[in-house]
Amino acid sequence: MELYCSCIASVIFLFLVGVAANAQSIPTTLEGPFQPVTRSFDPSLRRGSDDLPMDHPRLKKNVTSMFPEQIALAISSPSSMWVSWVTGDAQIGLNVTPLDPSTVASEVWYGKESGKYLMKRKGLSMVYSQLYPFEGLWNYTSGIIHHVKIDGCMSFIEGLEPGTKYYYKCGDSAFPAMSDEKVFETMPLPGPDRYPRRIAVVGDLGLTSNSTTTIDHLTANDPSMILMIGDLAYANQYRTTGGSAVSCFICAFPNAPIRESYQPRWDGWGRY
Ligand SMILES: *[C@@H]1O[C@H](CO)[C@@H](O)[C@H](O)[C@H]1NC(C)=O
Ligand SMILES: *[C@@H]1O[C@H](CO)[C@@H](O)[C@H](O)[C@H]1NC(C)=O
Ligand SMILES: *[C@@H]1O[C@H](CO)[C@@H](O)[C@H](O)[C@H]1NC(C)=O
Ligand SMILES: [Fe+2]
Repeated sequence: MELYCSCIASVIFLFLVGVAANAQSIPTTLEGPFQPVTRSFDPSLRRGSDDLPMDHPRLKKNVTSMFPEQIALAISSPSSMWVSWVTGDAQIGLNVTPLDPSTVASEVWYGKESGKYLMKRKGLSMVYSQLYPFEGLWNYTSGIIHHVKIDGCMSFIEGLEPGTKYYYKCGDSAFPAMSDEKVFETMPLPGPDRYPRRIAVVGDLGLTSNSTTTIDHLTANDPSMILMIGDLAYANQYRTTGGSAVSCFICAFPNAPIRESYQPRWDGWGRY
């Protein structure tokens, strides 16, 4: 449910909806400089959107065994990139046993040519648990969350080249359980005529019947990067036992011992 949103995130989200609704192409900064343009929100557009259930085809985990899912990139500089993903099955219920993160490696294989991964990097992995000491509430323990930072270190390991396309796979090559090939492009080095042409900003994405459309609208405008400023998935409108989202948790469950959350939604944010 999108009803309880941080104000900053909501304002930026609404701004983008306004632009997309206009259906004209958005100029790049290279065509500028322009006066900043803002548009008022069209109140006839729908506000809020219902959460998709976790068993919806879009939100179901669609890999088996220890294959990577929810592969996500995060830029940290023009010569480095974080690659993150999840393996294994989260558990929720009465007797949860944390997975051992050391059972699956965190590897990224990458190179500038498709199918040729001349470079490899290892990273780290972790699990977290949410344990509630209240009767009737379920405990949760996550899948294995992997993070690999590709960057330069200690003078003999080279970082990524700025403004360059890389092909990569991630996973554990010993299983073997590597992902399909994916692609990223590093940011250009900063300079007076070198900068991302277009940056899309989105917040409050959620896992709703409209989240995919929102991302499709953003990518259709060919941004150099999408800045997701937070509130990716909403877990806190749910009981630990799942069920349906409510718009006001304390109104719906006045006797709840704590403001609980349904972590499978939180940890499914990358399936938007
Ligand atoms: C699983 O879901 C991801 C993200 O939606 C998609 O890119 C991928 O193609 C899907 N894989 C399969 C095997 O359906
Ligand atoms: C959840 O974990 C806590 C802390 O270990 C424990 O007290 C509680 O009984 C557990 N709850 C369930 C439902 O297993
Ligand atoms: C948004 O979701 C609603 C259902 O909640 C659906 O009827 C509508 O078609 C969706 N709009 C878009 C643009 O995806
Ligand atoms: Fe929000």
